[in-house]
Amino acid sequence: MARIIGGLGTSHVPAIGGAIARGLEQDPYWKPFFDGYRPVHRWLAEMRPDVVVMFYNDHGLNFFLDKMPTFAIGAAKAYSNADEGWGLPVQRPFKGDPALSWHLIEALTADEFDVTTCQELLVDHAVTVPMSLMWPGGRERPVKIVPIAINTVQHPLPSPARCFKLGRAVGRALESYDKAARVLVVGSGGLSHQLDGERAGFINKPFDLMCLDRLVRDPVPLTRYSIMDLVELSGTQGVELVSWLAMRGALSGKVSLAHSTYHIPISNTAAAILLLDHQMALA
Ligand code: DHB
Ligand code: FE
Repeated sequence: MARIIGGLGTSHVPAIGGAIARGLEQDPYWKPFFDGYRPVHRWLAEMRPDVVVMFYNDHGLNFFLDKMPTFAIGAAKAYSNADEGWGLPVQRPFKGDPALSWHLIEALTADEFDVTTCQELLVDHAVTVPMSLMWPGGRERPVKIVPIAINTVQHPLPSPARCFKLGRAVGRALESYDKAARVLVVGSGGLSHQLDGERAGFINKPFDLMCLDRLVRDPVPLTRYSIMDLVELSGTQGVELVSWLAMRGALSGKVSLAHSTYHIPISNTAAAILLLDHQMALA
């Protein structure tokens, strides 16, 4: 049976990938941010996940405005990265887990989530940056991935409540998987940021800190915000918080805080890490 061992929320600012490529982790601007990942490395070494199920948003690399699935799930043997215009080195492909992907697709569809299935899927910085942060140094990555894309780009966007329910459904589906797997669920994006328009550079620290707190012990009130509430409170791109809500939705057992950091700004973004331990409820 699959075991959900934890959840991780993490920002995915492309400039982080640029800093890694140039070896700037100890640079004064970057050090406080990268130091925040050390406890995550210790946790990964101890907890040894073998699969990462990652909620993220594609930013125009694989899906474009002409065809935009609300929810899409990878079902590939491997996921390639490609040059998306940020000047980041192209990452070697990420190993997939087609058996788990198809189990999730079957279970989600039966659970009334009609996801777009992708037997080919290019993954952008929202996947590559968290993976490079979790497993730095260019070594062989010890995990397979199942990417689940949520549309945060082309309105109308799925509501926070809907994304939380998607996470719940993914959690249920993982619990019914009959193969042994130690699963880490990741939510990639956020926290508050706005990249363009009159409020470019907008960051809302009190709102972010409230979200970090709620995500640990009481996430449901966060699902009552509308997308427009999130745009107002956390910026046009701050809506990426929905991936964190989906991650948290997947954790239906006992959740406790393992580690958290909040550092502003990285580029235009409030960069945050939230690592949660998860003990599944006994059936
Ligand atoms: C930035 C943040 C993002 O989430 C993103 O997808 C692209 C850029 C930034 O702050 O630069
Ligand atoms: Fe983003």
